[in-house]
Amino acid sequence: MFFKKKEKSVQRVLPEHIAIIMDGNGRWAKKRSLPRTAGHAAGSKTFKTIARYCNKIGIKYLTVYAFSTENWKRPQAEVNNIMNILRDYLKDTDSFKDENIRLEFIGDRAPLADDIKELMLKAEADSQGATGLHLNIALNYGGRDEIVHAVREIVKEGIKAEDVTEQIITDRLYTAGQPDPDFIIRPSGEYRLSNYLIWQSAYAEYWFSDILWPDFSPKDLDRALEDFSRRNRRFGGV
Ligand code: IPE
Ligand code: IPE
Ligand code: MG
Repeated sequence: MFFKKKEKSVQRVLPEHIAIIMDGNGRWAKKRSLPRTAGHAAGSKTFKTIARYCNKIGIKYLTVYAFSTENWKRPQAEVNNIMNILRDYLKDTDSFKDENIRLEFIGDRAPLADDIKELMLKAEADSQGATGLHLNIALNYGGRDEIVHAVREIVKEGIKAEDVTEQIITDRLYTAGQPDPDFIIRPSGEYRLSNYLIWQSAYAEYWFSDILWPDFSPKDLDRALEDFSRRNRRFGGV
């Protein structure tokens, strides 16, 4: 249950777009003397739980960081493991369809395996009409890479320098047409963005915690949302 009846004085304000950096899988596994792969498997379960919970409480957009443009630096076996978890997830989208979740991928798809690209397209097409949570999975995503991609589009379209506006750039990002994230959550005790949504997060609120992602529960999300409700967002005003 979200917020039950206790905080009478705090008006419940839900963020419209939550972005989560799903970090700490490896450390979660290490603490249990398990291989890192076990951490990714556990993290994937948490992802499903949290996505369903966001849908249930009426969050409109959720963007999760699944694999960054920097994560290719990891050992090949770990990269393969993460890609296989993604394959399994995409082959079982029926449960998400049942829940009316719309799936979209953001990031550069070019270097991904062909079968994954096909599964991604199919999952997106199958869930296109869903009216519940809009779930973005950031895969081979990097904020700087995204901006480079947008600039290339602008140049290709022949847009004149004096005509370039913030909106022109926003419209060419992977998140075009979506509201900016207003709440960014990073568990695992790291205090950085790691190249996540760097343009879109200009005015986001941040929430950090030591919890490792596989341990992150709907209760933790409730706590974070309660904090969000108390934030005073001024956007440069008074
Ligand atoms: C996040 O967990 C998953 C990905 C980056 C794909 P990590 O694998 O980064 O876990 P830690 O940070 O090593 O604990
Ligand atoms: C960020 O986590 C990327 C994802 C969660 C997919 P990392 O573990 O890759 O980030 P750093 O290396 O700690 O900055
Ligand atoms: Mg990490």
